[in-house]
Amino acid sequence: SLKAIRGAFLDFIEDPFFVTDELKSARYIPDGLLILENGYIKELGEYQQLKDKYAIVPITAYSNCLIMPGFIDTHIHFPQTEMIAAYGEQLLEWLNKYTFPVEGKFKDRDYAQKIASFFLDELIKNGTTTALVFAAVFPQSVEAFFTEASRRNLRMISGKVMMDRNAPGFLRDTAESSYEDSKKLIQKWHKNGRLLYAVTPRFAVTSTEEQLQVAGKLLEEFPDVYLHTHLSENAKEVELVAQLFPKSKGYLDVYDRAGLVKEKSIFAHGVQLRDDEFKRLSEAKSAIAFCPTSNLFLGSGLFKLFQAKSKENPVKVGLGTDVGGGTSFSLLQTANEAYKIVQLQEKKLSSFKALFLATLGGAKALCLEDKIGNFDVGKEADFIVLDLQATPLMALRNSQTPPAKTKAEIAEKAFAMMMLGDERTIQATYIAGELAYTH
Ligand code: GUN
Ligand code: FE
Repeated sequence: SLKAIRGAFLDFIEDPFFVTDELKSARYIPDGLLILENGYIKELGEYQQLKDKYAIVPITAYSNCLIMPGFIDTHIHFPQTEMIAAYGEQLLEWLNKYTFPVEGKFKDRDYAQKIASFFLDELIKNGTTTALVFAAVFPQSVEAFFTEASRRNLRMISGKVMMDRNAPGFLRDTAESSYEDSKKLIQKWHKNGRLLYAVTPRFAVTSTEEQLQVAGKLLEEFPDVYLHTHLSENAKEVELVAQLFPKSKGYLDVYDRAGLVKEKSIFAHGVQLRDDEFKRLSEAKSAIAFCPTSNLFLGSGLFKLFQAKSKENPVKVGLGTDVGGGTSFSLLQTANEAYKIVQLQEKKLSSFKALFLATLGGAKALCLEDKIGNFDVGKEADFIVLDLQATPLMALRNSQTPPAKTKAEIAEKAFAMMMLGDERTIQATYIAGELAYTH
């Protein structure tokens, strides 16, 4: 059966970092009609051109809103939901003092499921319809997460954390148990409905070389699963990795030697990467999850976005909230902080570039651009309705210019939205064509 949504639509069809006129990377239809069929995009066009063809289809109309593809969060931890905003530490101390004790609670399947449910509702409220998600070391934490994601029919990627050293005993697995547990989870959940699996060694500090080799073996046995880990986030972490892996040429090389640097590999942070490491990521077609609120909150540093997005050695980049190292579930707030990180490097992150990273760019980073990320015909109908006047301040700011008829006009309004907006801006979230949330 068919459904129709009427409103102003904005999505991306090209990478705005790589076109001479970035307005050409976007598609903007001020008065459009989106036709949905069985959870997929059937057609998007001008309302005036489609209204007769679909005259009998019931229409839901949104005014003063912007309809966009659902946001994609390329790095987040569901077991860290309750410890968001933990005071005073940088990465290694923060992990020991706050993160590890909380993750221990996820051994309890019922507790894990309660938090997974809260977490997914929070994502949906914030307009995030797909995420690449760290679970905890316990297989039952992954079971809990996928069970709740499946119940909501979300396209989600997750995996069991692998960590066999430099962590408290109650959080450690072994190379062998991590292999067996991950394998069982892959067989049960990978491509189960909209769910996908990521082999998830926490980071080089908490895995032995043997365990990293096991992760590589899993990728060989299951070539279409993902690899998800942290990379070169914090200066002290990079030093520690050099000590732990004296034979490696650098942090990325630790993963490379284990066969983990591949096309479906997503590395969170990359703040401290060297030039040759950016080049290697480009060559391998791997992706980086840029996590601005986390990088600032944990004092990790300023990610070199424009080096990653260079024409010579382009690296795929998505935005990550990295909750609980990050401080917001909102990809609008994440884009806001990304803008400031880029400003400190005397570059400009336009609204189109930022919103591309939050949608089609994220889909490309996750190798899902054939399924999600924009309104192309045949894609899964995950989309959001953004209220440009969600707060009195946003309404005042938005009223300074008339309703946007052109791409340049919507780019200006979208910039104010990304600076001022947060979950209050999300008027509605649709998952696979179904209304899943209204504000
Ligand atoms: N590196 C290893 N584990 C973590 C984590 O949980 N959060 C962040 N931000 N970095 C990490
Ligand atoms: Fe993280």
